[in-house]
Amino acid sequence: MLLTKVEEKALAGEYGEALEIAYRVLVAIGKISDANRLIPIKWAHVSGVSYLTIGEYGLDFLKKISSTHGTKFRVFTTVNPCGMDIENWDLLDTPADYADRQLKIISCYEKLGIANSFTCVPFQSYKVPRRGTSVAWAESSAAVYANSILGLRTNRESAVSALASALTGKTVYSDLHIPHNRIPTKNIRIKMEKKVGRALAGSVDYGILGYFAGKNVPGVIGFQGQKLDLRITEAKALCAAIGTTGSSGMFVPNSKEKLETIDFTGKEYEDVFSDLSQSGEGEAIVFGCPQMTIEELYELSRMLGEKHFSKKCLVFCSSKIYDMARTRGYAQVIEGAGATFVRDACADFTPMISALNVDSVETDSCKGAHYMRKVHGVKISLKNTERIIEENTN
Ligand code: F3S
Repeated sequence: MLLTKVEEKALAGEYGEALEIAYRVLVAIGKISDANRLIPIKWAHVSGVSYLTIGEYGLDFLKKISSTHGTKFRVFTTVNPCGMDIENWDLLDTPADYADRQLKIISCYEKLGIANSFTCVPFQSYKVPRRGTSVAWAESSAAVYANSILGLRTNRESAVSALASALTGKTVYSDLHIPHNRIPTKNIRIKMEKKVGRALAGSVDYGILGYFAGKNVPGVIGFQGQKLDLRITEAKALCAAIGTTGSSGMFVPNSKEKLETIDFTGKEYEDVFSDLSQSGEGEAIVFGCPQMTIEELYELSRMLGEKHFSKKCLVFCSSKIYDMARTRGYAQVIEGAGATFVRDACADFTPMISALNVDSVETDSCKGAHYMRKVHGVKISLKNTERIIEENTN
């Protein structure tokens, strides 16, 4: 790789250990991906925040980086949700020793200089740069969204590579940063209408499509067969599910490329659905994987009106979006219906799901279904938001 003089000095440790480690990470990735240089980024989004995912080893690493004298993030940096509601952790049955470690992780990130929200939908809370801008986003669902919907350029960064980018303000010029790599490598042809008599619609349908597409196409996915005119809820569900099952970092709607094509019919739909949904109903409800957007909270409040949940319902969103929802009156309706907001936390990588002490959970998220089963061993009942409300309110 061609490095500038300053980059070489940083790599040699002249600007301190934290920067040396960060450049070592980027150069190692550059070598593997045949990149010839590093490029500046405008925004880093770092994952690896929940203690449930990074554990003691991750906490020690963050302590080391953040305590190196003068080490700060060099670009605008957002971070993923953590594993608990920072203000209300004790009300939501988060174990005290977990909370203690989680707060230490948060303190390391705060020392390094992060934006003041913990979110996996960072594009909702902060001004998005213009299309074509290079960023370095970890969190697969956000990275797929950045490339496919926002027109930003990012590879699917790991927790460590995004941290290295935040510390240096740079990323490796490879893969999806290069315009000619941003074209489909395989197409998925949607044939739902013919088979089941309706087009895909809603977050569960698009989550199922994404779950299938991510599993079957490791590169850029081209969709054909149904014009994809996605609402934010659908786009978010599609991107999150693509990121759950494979390594793809981008899709192209309405692909014109003549490529190897895989059909997605009613059969594939049913196969994914029955894999993800093992229960007719759940003992508790979880909304917000990825965390809910302001549009989704508006929709939820509109659907609820005067209704009241008949079982425990957790709603995950960032504190910034929660504050916005309170200002607009949506949060009061949702809380009035008996739901509990969980702010700044991940819906899956948190001890709160196990603390619910239930065997089954209802959700509208395919990504949530995948991880809640895996991490907490609960059975999942996958349903659209409307149906969950219809069946669980009075
Ligand atoms: Fe967000 Fe956690 Fe789901 S980070 S996408 S709520 S797994």
